[in-house]
Amino acid sequence: MNACIRAIVRTAIYNNMQVVGFLKGYEGLIDNNFIELKRESVSGIINKGGTILKTARSKRFMTESGLETASKNLTNSKVDGLVVIGGDGSFKGALELSKRCSIPIIGCAGTIDNDMAGTDFTIGYDTAINTVVEAIDKIRDTAESHDRIFVVEVMGRDAGLIALRSAIASGAEALLVPELKNDMDVLISKIRSWRSSKSSKIIVVAEGDESGGAYKVADIIKRQCPEFDLRVSILGHIQRGGNPSCMERVNASIIGFNAVKGLMQGHKSQMVGIVNKTIVYTPFEKAVKHKLHLDRELEELIEILGS
Ligand code: F6P
Repeated sequence: MNACIRAIVRTAIYNNMQVVGFLKGYEGLIDNNFIELKRESVSGIINKGGTILKTARSKRFMTESGLETASKNLTNSKVDGLVVIGGDGSFKGALELSKRCSIPIIGCAGTIDNDMAGTDFTIGYDTAINTVVEAIDKIRDTAESHDRIFVVEVMGRDAGLIALRSAIASGAEALLVPELKNDMDVLISKIRSWRSSKSSKIIVVAEGDESGGAYKVADIIKRQCPEFDLRVSILGHIQRGGNPSCMERVNASIIGFNAVKGLMQGHKSQMVGIVNKTIVYTPFEKAVKHKLHLDRELEELIEILGS
């Protein structure tokens, strides 16, 4: 997100605008809590995880009075355009805000889950999957030397894209994601078939999978395959931090740059995305309503390569 903020600030200043940053997302709009952002305010942040503006899952913004206050503050602040960086919840909020005030709003897709329509890439995703792959590579050392099964839980409350890509890249043996109907009996017979053929067995589970997560999956396996030594590893919030990857910094810069250009061109209530290397503006309604379909070919790939 910092790379995106930097690009927004510097593109706007280059085009003779003034920039302010609301702190803690929509909370900052409700409390009228903002700071001026100059060119130098965003120096030395492109390599940093998190966001210098801080963020919050604002409960107040989900209420009518919170929305009204935010809308009034935004109008009174004489801001000419608002850029929101966030995911599904942020754009649902932006949509509600745009119904109450006339200031144009542009969105930059930022979520490690990569579950937005209108973009191939959301800010945070590439760094998150690289973190997961690095972690699983390390876990595999214990899995191999101790001849163990590891059930590794990765983030993805509603989406299995972190799990899918990192499972392929880390050579995982099995994958459980919310988008697929997972048959536990199939998984168990697969595990039984591993007995002699494999020394390490990594099962990647997305936290939002219908199985209920890694501990639940582990319980089922322990009950049905007691002969296996098994451990659970929940990767958690390490996936949301750390220095952003090169690809992330470049794409976040492109998205931030085009958010400002988009506002200048009159775009509003749209999310900036990159689809097939092309900049695309998608209305918030379409960006938030996206139902993901996992690429069947990738799913098959895991099945064949991990067997
Ligand atoms: O919404 C993105 C996400 O990264 C999910 O994958 C994860 O479940 C959630 O955020 C974690 O959020 P929190 O830090 O608020 O628990």
